[in-house]
Amino acid sequence: MASQKWFKRNIFLLSWLLLVLPASSLIPINVLPKGIPQIKTIPSQAATGDIIANFLSANDNLDGPQLSAINSTSADWWYFDVVSPDLLTSLTITFFTALDSSFPFLPPSSNVDVVGIFYSFPNGTYDVIFIYASAAIVTTDVNGSSGKYVGAGASWSGSSDLSRYEISIDSPENGISGTFTLDTLAPAHYPCGPATAGQNMMVAPHTGWANAMPDAVGTVNFTILGSEMGFEGVAYHDKNWMDQPFQQNVASWYWGHGRLGPYSIVWFDTMGLDGREWVSAYASENGEIVFSSCEASSLSVRPSGGDDQYPPSVTGGDPTGFTIWMDLGDAGALDVNVMIEAVAADGGPGYKRWTGSMEGRVCCGPLMKGGVAVLEQFKLV
Ligand SMILES: *[C@@H]1O[C@H](CO)[C@@H](O)[C@H](O)[C@H]1NC(C)=O
Ligand SMILES: *[C@@H]1O[C@H](CO)[C@@H](O)[C@H](O)[C@H]1NC(C)=O
Ligand SMILES: *[C@@H]1O[C@H](CO)[C@@H](O)[C@H](O)[C@H]1NC(C)=O
Ligand SMILES: *[C@@H]1O[C@H](CO)[C@@H](O)[C@H](O)[C@H]1NC(C)=O
Repeated sequence: MASQKWFKRNIFLLSWLLLVLPASSLIPINVLPKGIPQIKTIPSQAATGDIIANFLSANDNLDGPQLSAINSTSADWWYFDVVSPDLLTSLTITFFTALDSSFPFLPPSSNVDVVGIFYSFPNGTYDVIFIYASAAIVTTDVNGSSGKYVGAGASWSGSSDLSRYEISIDSPENGISGTFTLDTLAPAHYPCGPATAGQNMMVAPHTGWANAMPDAVGTVNFTILGSEMGFEGVAYHDKNWMDQPFQQNVASWYWGHGRLGPYSIVWFDTMGLDGREWVSAYASENGEIVFSSCEASSLSVRPSGGDDQYPPSVTGGDPTGFTIWMDLGDAGALDVNVMIEAVAADGGPGYKRWTGSMEGRVCCGPLMKGGVAVLEQFKLV
C-alpha cells in the first residue's frame, strides 16, 4: 500500500517536472534531433493577393525560401555560378520562382518555376536555356536548402552547414545534362555582416540577399548541346528575394565576386530609383571573414574604360571594367581593377554578366595579380 502511494506521488511529480522543464534539460543535447527539415512547395501558378516577405535573419533558414508565396509582383531565386581560370568558360544556374512581371529579364511566361542555365565557351559562344517545371519543392535543413524542379530534371542539394552544394541537370529534350558541385571556401554572410540572427537582410529597397557561399571550389561536368564542359573554377552561391518588382526599386546595380591574392571578395553597389546608393562589402581570407559591412563608407564600385558614366544610363554603352574601393577594417583598404574578359550572359542593354580578371593591392602593399571574377551590371533608367 505504502509503495503504491509513493509511486503515485512520484509519478505525479515526474509528470509535473516534464511539463515545466524544457525538453533539452532532460535529454542530453547531442541526442536531440538536429532540426526538422522544412518542406515548401511553390506551385507553377502565381499566387493571387498579398504575400509576406521576411527580411530579418533567424537562427536557421539562411538559404531557405523567404516569401510566403510568389505572386506576380514578387520573386525569390537561388543563384549559382562558376568561372574557369581561363576566364572564358563559365556556367550560371539560377532556380527562379518569379514571373517576368516582377523580374523583367525572364522570358514572358505564366510559369513561376523556371531554371535558367547560362553558359559561355572559350571561343566566345554564350547562350541560355530556360527549363520550366510543374512545381518547385524546396526543403530547408538548418541553414542549407535543396530544391527539386519537378518535371524539369533540375535540382540542387545543399548541406545543412552550407559547406557543400550539388546541382544536377538532366534534360535530354533541352540538350543539357551534368553536375556542378560547390565546396565552400568562405563563411556565409548577410548584407550588413556575418551570418548571425536578427540582421536586416535588405541589400536594396524591398530586396533581400543571403550569401550562403561567397567563394567555393566549383567542379563542373556538363554536356551542353553536344559540347563537353568540364573544369574546376571559382564558384559562388547566393539568393535574392523581393516583395515588389525589381524594376520598381533598382536604377542600377553592380555586383560581383572573385578571388584575388589571399582574399575572397563580394561587392554590391546599387542605386535606387530615388538616387540613394546601397552597398555591401565582404572579404574573407583563409576561411575567416576580414570585413563584412553595409556602411555607405565601406565600398565604392565605379565603371572604368569605355562608357564610364555614373550613374549609368540604359541608353549608353558599357564600360570595359570597374574600379573597386573596399574598406577592410584593420587590414587597410583594398583597391581593385576589374577588367571585363568575356560575356557570360546578355540580357540586352539593361543587363550583362561578365567574367573578369582582377588586380589590386591592400594599401600600400604589393600588387596582387591573377584575380578571377564574375560580375554583373543592371541599368534600368
Ligand atoms: C503581392 O504581395 C505584395 C506584398 O504583400 C503586395 O504589395 C502586392 O500588391 C501583391 N501583388 C499582387 C499582384 O497582388
Ligand atoms: C564554340 O564552341 C562551342 C562549344 O564547343 C561550339 O558548340 C560552337 O559551335 C563553337 N562556335 C564557333 C563559332 O566555333
Ligand atoms: C544558421 O544561420 C544563422 C544566421 O541566420 C546563424 O546564427 C546560425 O549559427 C547558423 N547555424 C548553423 C548551425 O551554422
Ligand atoms: C562526367 O560525367 C560523365 C557522364 O556522367 C562521366 O562518364 C564522367 O566520368 C564524368 N567525368 C568526371 C571528370 O567526373
